[in-house]
Amino acid sequence: MKQYDNVTIFDHPLVNHKIAILRDEKTSMKEFRELIEEITTLMTFECLKEGVPTTEKQVKTPLETCTQQVVKDNAIVIVPILRAGLGMVNGVHVLFPSARVGHIGMYRNEETLQPCEYYCKLPDGIEDKLVLLVDPMLATGGSACDAIDSLKQRGCKDIKFMAVIGAPEGVSKVAEAHPDVHIFVSTLDRCLNENGYILPGLGDAGDRLFGTK
Ligand code: PRP
Ligand code: URA
Repeated sequence: MKQYDNVTIFDHPLVNHKIAILRDEKTSMKEFRELIEEITTLMTFECLKEGVPTTEKQVKTPLETCTQQVVKDNAIVIVPILRAGLGMVNGVHVLFPSARVGHIGMYRNEETLQPCEYYCKLPDGIEDKLVLLVDPMLATGGSACDAIDSLKQRGCKDIKFMAVIGAPEGVSKVAEAHPDVHIFVSTLDRCLNENGYILPGLGDAGDRLFGTK
């Protein structure tokens, strides 16, 4: 895949270890859900290394008063792409319990693979926040591109996108359509199959998170 300035592919041994268990078809729904959350927390730590709105605060230690940088109140909004993105919300909340959550509902037409938005509810004032868009799977990139378009149409200017597994086709599509959005993917897989599933992938993330199949 071409290199993009706005794409970060994690290749971290701890994350890779968890991805191996996540991929395994024998992994239970409970363990799958826990792993998605844990990987999201690890990714969030890296994803928010730069570009987080901070402010200075005076803190009195037992020895003296110092000036300490802190994350601004109410600076981050998490936006999961329904359904599977819901599985990543708690992973971010572990680090930012007060982050508000917007929802964008998208499903892929199974024949055309075209995304279709069926729901959108975002917190008031999201235009001025750092939006963390989350979805475990970045396959053709259609859902992520449309979700980002939708956020931009509603005034969002500062968007980061996190996906657990990406296919090269989808990563390129989003990176080129939205050069202003930084994309974080924990693992870059080989390709898509004829049904638009990521190979080797992990199957249908929504079904594995919620036990629908
Ligand atoms: C999955 C996944 C992404 C989308 C990725 O959702 O969670 O949203 O597919 O595919 P794309 O990059 O080709 O658009 P799906 O449409 O299966 O809906 P679900 O989360 O409700 O299962
Ligand atoms: N959505 C999934 O859940 N899995 C894939 O491999 C592709 C899209």
